[in-house]
This record gives sequence, C-alpha cells and structure tokens, in this order.
Amino acid sequence: MTSAHTPESLGSGSGSADIDTRSPNGSAGVGIRVTNLSKTFASQAGKVTALANLDLEIEASEIVALLGPSGCGKTTTLRCIAGLETPDSGAVEILGRQVVNTAEGVAVAPEKRDLGMVFQSYALWPHMTVFANVAYPLRRRKVDKAEIGDRVHDILTMVGCGQFVDRYPGQLSGGQQQRIALARALVGNPSVILFDEPLSNLDAKLREQMRFELLELHERFRFAAVYVTHDQVEAMTVAHRIAVMRIGRIVQLGAAREVYDRPTDRGVADFMGAATFIPGTVRSADGERVLVDTALGEMRALAVDSAATTAGDEVEICARPEQVRLRATSDDTAPAAGYHWVEGQLQHSSFQGGQMVRLVAVNGVTIRVDTSSGMSDSEEARFTSGAIMLGLPMDSLYVYS
Ligand SMILES: Nc1ncnc2c1ncn2[C@@H]1O[C@H](COP(=O)(O)OP(=O)(O)OP(=O)(O)O)[C@@H](O)[C@H]1O
Ligand SMILES: [Mg+2]
Repeated sequence: MTSAHTPESLGSGSGSADIDTRSPNGSAGVGIRVTNLSKTFASQAGKVTALANLDLEIEASEIVALLGPSGCGKTTTLRCIAGLETPDSGAVEILGRQVVNTAEGVAVAPEKRDLGMVFQSYALWPHMTVFANVAYPLRRRKVDKAEIGDRVHDILTMVGCGQFVDRYPGQLSGGQQQRIALARALVGNPSVILFDEPLSNLDAKLREQMRFELLELHERFRFAAVYVTHDQVEAMTVAHRIAVMRIGRIVQLGAAREVYDRPTDRGVADFMGAATFIPGTVRSADGERVLVDTALGEMRALAVDSAATTAGDEVEICARPEQVRLRATSDDTAPAAGYHWVEGQLQHSSFQGGQMVRLVAVNGVTIRVDTSSGMSDSEEARFTSGAIMLGLPMDSLYVYS
C-alpha cells in the first residue's frame, strides 16, 4: 500500500510566549487546521468550557501530541475534528478541505472526513471477527471484495496479527486488540488519524513497544495525526511536536526538547517532567539575565518573559533533576564553572533501575537530583549520606512568576 501524500520534513515549530500555532512548513503542507474552536457544555453546575478559541495547525504527515491534565479539552478537540461533536464556533480543515465551519454552516459527516480513529477502549465490534472489524471501513466505502481481502490481509500482516483473522476480539489479548484497532484505522489509508490515549490500557512494556511500532507504521503511511495522551514520555516518543493544553487552550506548542527545556510557564514546567521549584525574590533584572535572592543564596537565572520580570517580583526558579550536578564535600579539585555550588544534606536516595533519585535538603529547600545509576561503587559511596555538594546550572535555570 502506498500513501497518497508525500512526506514533509518536519520543523520544530515556534513555541515562543506568543504561541505560534501554525505548522512549521507553512500552509502548503497543512494536514489539519483548527481555527478558533470553542465548545461549552451545559452541566448541573452551570456551563463548562471545554474549548476556548483553540487554534492548531498540523502538517501533512506530522504527529502532534495533545498533552494536558484531565478535563483540559483533549478528547473534545478530537471529537470536533472527527465530527462526533459540533463546536459552538470555529472551523476545521483536513488537507485543505473544510469539514466544519460554523459561520458558513459547513458540517461534513464523520464518515466523509477521510480520517481514522483509535481510542483507549479499542472499540472493536465484539460480534465481528478480526477480518470483519478491519474490513469495515472499506466495506462502507464499497471497495471491491477481492481488494478488501488483499488490503485486510496486508495490514494485518503488517501489525503482526495475520494469524488472527478468524478470531473474535474477546479471544485476543489487550495488545493484540490494540493492534487490530490500529489496523482498522490504517486500512483505508486515511490522511489523518486521531488517537485518544490508544495505549493506556496496556502494561508499561507493551506500551513502549507499541509506541515504536506506531512510529514504524507512520514511516510507511505518513498520515497526519493528533495523538492525545496523559503521558509525557509517550508524547515525547511519538510526536514531532507537543501541544500542552490547559482549560480549553494550547499554552505551549513545540518540539519535545524545546517544551521540556524551556517551558513558557510554571504549569508547563511542572507538567513536563520532574522539577524542583526554588522560591525567591528578583533582586535585579537585565534583559534575560536575572539575579534572585533565595534560601540557597543569590542565584543567577534566566527570565522566560524578560519584559515582565522586574526587581521585587516573587518568583520560583525551576531546576530539572538531571541537570543538577553532585560533588563530594571532600573533593578538593576546582568545581565546574557555570554552576551555583551549594551544600546540602542527603535525605533520601532511591535506586530506580536506570537512574538514582536523590532528595537533598539545602536551607529548607528539598532539591531532587537524578543521576545515571551507572556510577561505580566507589563513586556512589561518596554520595550515600551526610553532606553533599550540589551544582545548579545557571544557563538552564528559568524563573517563573
Ligand atoms: N458531553 C459532555 N457533557 C458535559 N460536559 C462535558 C461533556 N464532554 C466533556 N465535558 C467536559 O468538558 C471538559 C473537557 O472534557 P474532555 O473530555 O475534552 O477532557 P480531556 O482533556 O479529554 O480529559 P481526560 O484526560 O480526563 O480524558 C471537561 O470539563 C468535561 O467534564
Ligand atoms: Mg479524554
């Protein structure tokens, strides 16, 4: 099977404080364009805002993950793109074709939107065999019977489930059902696939394997995708860009590394991985460079929004655990430059397989430090109890208000 559209090179997007929700390659290769989408629901407690003027552009053959806390509007976004929900206002285009536009009264039926969907609950029909489940989208489109047979066979082989054609979903494991659901979404070779937490029912190991399998399938089919997940590692693995949502809006959009290394607000910093926040007061600000008085002493850090950061501001400095360095108090070599070196007391350390996680108290602030667990025993022995030196990297400490 070949794809109808060509692969595009994928850029990293913008991700500045002023969120640029356009696709990195401009309008020529736009797979999905969501414009000004709003949706409220009526509930007993009053109106619930699910989406608030959401904009998003996804390139043809790009995967964008929607990441955010429960209730922030991820599923509602997918349902509006799919046509399972009607937005209060806004528009959605798929490969340049408008599928919904509330101002112009456009609303294309879900089955005519050229998209596949994969949900958390697999949503396979229990009374149909694997073959019939996967053939379903092609039957609806009245594809020739012989061709249906070939395509279903091909796609099932590709997802490693060729031997299950005659089984019913109830006779398959969770991972096998998940692959069948993927096959069903892919069989019609849609330009767009919507994933709503598709792997969350699987155990950790299988989930990780399926993420990579999904990327292989994407290499082959080059669909554009919106991939909803709660799991930031999953988002970083499968997506070209990550959109972090909060209360019906996208608050940051960018490549994984960009969103992780340079979150534009405290909420994103906290959501994207482990972080220690050190409270303090801005002493002086010179462009991006700021000096902050903290319980650890005066610290140099960087302002995310330099225009809005001034002396006297109460702020928090964000430190990522894997960027903090360790040093024995007995070490008499010169400490590395570019770090704030402070002395603390080791409170806890925990071996977590690939990494060691340590909590170190410094003047009443608990700082998390992650190191690879691959240190030698003698090296490790220097950091097992008592006083310990921590190095906080000045060039990657960001300040949030
Ligand atoms: N049919 C509905 N009726 C009333 N409120 C709804 C309906 N569907 C969604 N909501 C509300 O809209 C908001 C967004 O819901 P949505 O399902 O999009 O969240 P989500 O980001 O997918 O969350 P989760 O991660 O828990 O799946 C929530 O506050 C939810 O309660
Ligand atoms: Mg949801």
